[in-house]
Amino acid sequence: MSKKILLSGVKPTGQAHIGNYFGAMKQFLDLQNSGDYQCYFMIADYHGLNLIQNAADMKNLINELTLDFLAIGLDPKKSIIFKQSDVSAHTELAWIFDTIVTMPYLMRAHAYKDAEAKNKELNVGTFNYPVLMAADILLYSTDVVPVGADQKQHVEYARDIAEKFNFTFCGITKDSSNTEKTTFKIPEPLILNNVATVPGIDGRKMSKSYNNTIPLFATREQITKAVMSIVTDSGSDIPANVYAIHKLFKTEAELKPLYEASKGKYKALKDALIEDIDAFIKPIRERREQLAKDSVIVAKTLSDGAKQANKVAQVKLEQAKIAIGVN
Ligand code: ADP
Ligand code: TRP
Repeated sequence: MSKKILLSGVKPTGQAHIGNYFGAMKQFLDLQNSGDYQCYFMIADYHGLNLIQNAADMKNLINELTLDFLAIGLDPKKSIIFKQSDVSAHTELAWIFDTIVTMPYLMRAHAYKDAEAKNKELNVGTFNYPVLMAADILLYSTDVVPVGADQKQHVEYARDIAEKFNFTFCGITKDSSNTEKTTFKIPEPLILNNVATVPGIDGRKMSKSYNNTIPLFATREQITKAVMSIVTDSGSDIPANVYAIHKLFKTEAELKPLYEASKGKYKALKDALIEDIDAFIKPIRERREQLAKDSVIVAKTLSDGAKQANKVAQVKLEQAKIAIGVN
């Protein structure tokens, strides 16, 4: 039986943190290693361009994210790891979709509404974000898209856009089953909600934008500094923010004796947390340091990935061009 197709993307917009890992990247790894999927892991640099508008920063962030992917165990022998801008079919298909997607429909996107509320001078790329993401997904006949809950609506946009294209150009209605005339497969979101939101050192959601992260490849010193800054609510036996982060690294059963023996001793509990985070990060940090010494690994991974992705994407784009009559 052929494997199901899985695709997900991450924007190269900043240093990865343990919230990104437990919220998303760990699941990429588990799904890759399950052997049940042909996986595509994409560096969404053109999506990131809405934010990162400096060539040196962009280059550096793409390099860093590729190393992050490799260091956690995403494997170019098993998965196709590529960057969006290397496959021009993405932006080409996004244009085709632009002609069938309406503005009022895009205005309903949560991400657009949030961005608009904050910034009146919104760029077209932010408005059009879901259309490019639909192209990312649909080019590979993706079955499943593993994403955090915040991206669910974007996968729904991809489903709607696929259906609209199939109806407009192939005469396929929603209810009629897929036939060989259908251009785009309808993808399903795979919502990674078994991991609750990872809290940051201030108790809010861990996020690059809040400056409250523990970097995924932190040094021992960085881990110590971050853990010592975890906000504790004096008075309680168990410091909630310390415990919430600790639970990511040890089971509740493993933590019980420690937290009982050290009731109210925040320093001792933080010291234990530093040990446990470091024990987890050390091997991947060392692996990443090794990978970073290899001067060609990032370029090779991305160029091999681009070749494989292009091959698949070109076939689908051609099919779309036949459907619209421009081939
Ligand atoms: P950030 O909020 O730091 O900018 P991103 O928006 O780049 O993070 O998120 C990348 C991925 O990591 C997404 O799939 C997102 O759902 C997940 N993620 C980010 N922060 C957390 C968190 N604190 N807990 C769980 N998952 C998270
Ligand atoms: N929008 C996603 C995010 O912000 C990143 C992304 C871009 C993506 N293209 C994708 C995710 C395609 C899944 C599939 O996290």
